[in-house]
Amino acid sequence: MLPYGRQLIEDDDIDAVVKQLRSDWLTQGPAVAKFEEALCELTGARYAVAVSSGTAALHLAALAAGVRAGDSGLTSDVTFVASANCIRYAGGVPTLVDVDPTTGHVSLPALRAAVDRLREKGIRPRVIVPVDFSGSVADLEGVRAIASEVGAKVIEDAAHSLGATYVDQRGATVKAGSCTHTDFAILSFHPVKHITTGEGGAITTNDEGAYKLLLELRTHGITKDPAKLKQVDGPWYYEQQSLGYHYRLTDVQCALGLSQARKLERFVERRRALAARYDAAFSGQSFARKLQSLSVPARNPSAYHLKVIRHVPGTGESVESVARRRRALYDGLREKGIAPQVHYIPVHRQPDFVESGLSSGSFPGADAYYAGCLSLPMFPGMADSDVDRVVDVVGGLLAS
Ligand SMILES: Cc1ncc(COP(=O)(O)O)c(C=O)c1O
Repeated sequence: MLPYGRQLIEDDDIDAVVKQLRSDWLTQGPAVAKFEEALCELTGARYAVAVSSGTAALHLAALAAGVRAGDSGLTSDVTFVASANCIRYAGGVPTLVDVDPTTGHVSLPALRAAVDRLREKGIRPRVIVPVDFSGSVADLEGVRAIASEVGAKVIEDAAHSLGATYVDQRGATVKAGSCTHTDFAILSFHPVKHITTGEGGAITTNDEGAYKLLLELRTHGITKDPAKLKQVDGPWYYEQQSLGYHYRLTDVQCALGLSQARKLERFVERRRALAARYDAAFSGQSFARKLQSLSVPARNPSAYHLKVIRHVPGTGESVESVARRRRALYDGLREKGIAPQVHYIPVHRQPDFVESGLSSGSFPGADAYYAGCLSLPMFPGMADSDVDRVVDVVGGLLAS
């Protein structure tokens, strides 16, 4: 099966891990800080805190953003569930916001309307979590403008966008995860992401106070900082000053991450070349009007975590009919040894959200997007001939 995504591990990655295994440090050693430095370089953020997953990163970012029991937070309805769950982990109540079905990004008019509805009820959201869907950075400045009106912090979910840049309103080119227009960003190093540590994630920020808090939260809420200790009982002494977690990333994982980080530019270039090959091959086809690539705004070029195609409704075509076409293509590709994926089932459809009363509202953009979306194979180890095979099979299936 040709999967929709997979890691690219090379001999020097393996050597880096073996070298780490032979060293004194399997965890809590120097590779962690080195990997964090590399992440600061890749994102342009001042501080990075490596943690055990992107989900852990979201949880800690929500806590550092001040989300507490009963607080409100908003995120996109088309995302992996973790973007919404982080608000719940911190005790808050997520509001899901509809998306623009052509980009998969959170819809700013829907976000404004959701924030206004909360304000009418006397609720000021504490946090907004825009998602850089499929690898193109969301309109962070638009989100920031809405967040600023209510004093909410912004966490960029950059799990899909490491290596991407966007042009901001001043005309500056800004890196995903730099926190230029947000308070925090989070990254994921799951094997299908741009670089991998097996499992892993990180939070980036430019706020020194938040950085120090995140370091403590990552390791049980414990500090050894003499300036912070309430008392000292000896050189062994440490204090748990808040309720933290064990969310550390090991040195073995960081050694792999550091080796992978050196390849980010090459990996993103390869993903972009594959996307361009898909687009060129699809554009001349008779089905091109019914099957379109997700739009990528010119100011926010994608780093292509995913290559999403959408079944576009014909005139008067129902959502159900679009969903049937998508299902037929999904099944047909699998029969030919190609494993596409659907990203994502809108969060508002998840039973746990429905049963917890967190799915109220209507999500026409998310539902339209979900009916037609399909993620085609996209990973840096793919050959050009793999793309050509996928395009041929899609063409054959749509012709039949
Ligand atoms: C948008 C988004 N946010 C967060 C996460 C969570 O990352 P992780 O799997 O590393 O916990 C993912 C993972 O797929 C994701 O796609």
